[in-house]
Amino acid sequence: EVWNPNGKYRVISTKPMPGTRWIRLLTDQNCRVEICTQKKTILSVEEILTLIGDKCDGVIGQLTEDWGEVLFSALSKAGGKAFSNMAVGYNNVDVNAATKYGVAVGNTPGVLTETTAELAASLSLAASRRIVEADEFMRAGLYDGWLPHLFVGNLLKGQTVGVIGAGRIGSAYARMMIEGFKMNLIYFDLYQATRLEKFVTAYGQFLKSNGEQPVTWKRASSMEEVLREADVISLHPILDKTTYHLINKDSLAIMKKEAILVNCSRGPVVDEVALVEHLKENPMFRVGLDVFEDEPFMKPGLRDMKNAVVVPHIASASKWTREGMATLAALNVLGKIKGYPIWSNPNQ
Ligand code: DGY
Repeated sequence: EVWNPNGKYRVISTKPMPGTRWIRLLTDQNCRVEICTQKKTILSVEEILTLIGDKCDGVIGQLTEDWGEVLFSALSKAGGKAFSNMAVGYNNVDVNAATKYGVAVGNTPGVLTETTAELAASLSLAASRRIVEADEFMRAGLYDGWLPHLFVGNLLKGQTVGVIGAGRIGSAYARMMIEGFKMNLIYFDLYQATRLEKFVTAYGQFLKSNGEQPVTWKRASSMEEVLREADVISLHPILDKTTYHLINKDSLAIMKKEAILVNCSRGPVVDEVALVEHLKENPMFRVGLDVFEDEPFMKPGLRDMKNAVVVPHIASASKWTREGMATLAALNVLGKIKGYPIWSNPNQ
């Protein structure tokens, strides 16, 4: 699909993206926009090379693509100056290779914070109240009357929410769980989450002044402390060498037997094989997963686990957010083409 065919700058989007604002932004600034409409979900490096061709000023790409040496050297040869991932995560992008070939890299933080946190909260609730299991039960026509034991789950109020990685998304999630469900907080992050701490303190004082049990917070000195103490644990680190398999057999073993683990970050942060074993051995342990180690696949056994809620990497999938991500990605590329610093550069 081509917009403004006579535009001076050739910008490619490897996928159709929501909304039209991002297209207008580019075409208004003399860009010819080419959108790849190939049905295949994940494009190979070879397919993207073909899209880049001989002249290309900038590319908007997706987290499913492997942006390394090969693509950045081709983009640079084609005259390209900018690449933006339509994602906040950029573990699929070799930023050093991009820098080597003089291509600026952008990502799309901010607009997906609340939407992603809302999905982490949804998964926490779905797991604690066994919503998917109960839904399947209803649809299978198995409900034959109210019972005291039917789908009994956990009450979140008064329990402890554990956040690993208290950046933008982790902090937004924590606030939702604290304010929404009056949970106490324990978090682990290399940086102090000052604003989050202030929020919990103020909210705790507010509850107290109303004669209610105040919520509390604690900054853990290790991730293990969070795993040991929290009832619901949500993972929000970036994926790199240091966070690969952060959650593994050993770390699962120190979690409470009835804990809930939520992952809306990146699949490889969790050793999924170890997780499946743990789910099998601990039927009261539950997970809510938005991401998987080898997307789009799940490790054998996971799909059969009743104590797992699984969704297909949709944490940022609200209309407002996805349009915002597309717009930011377009701004990143456009800015660089026009000679301004890239709007959001993960390297800065
Ligand atoms: C991201 O932005 O990194 C998410 O995984 C997709 O929105």
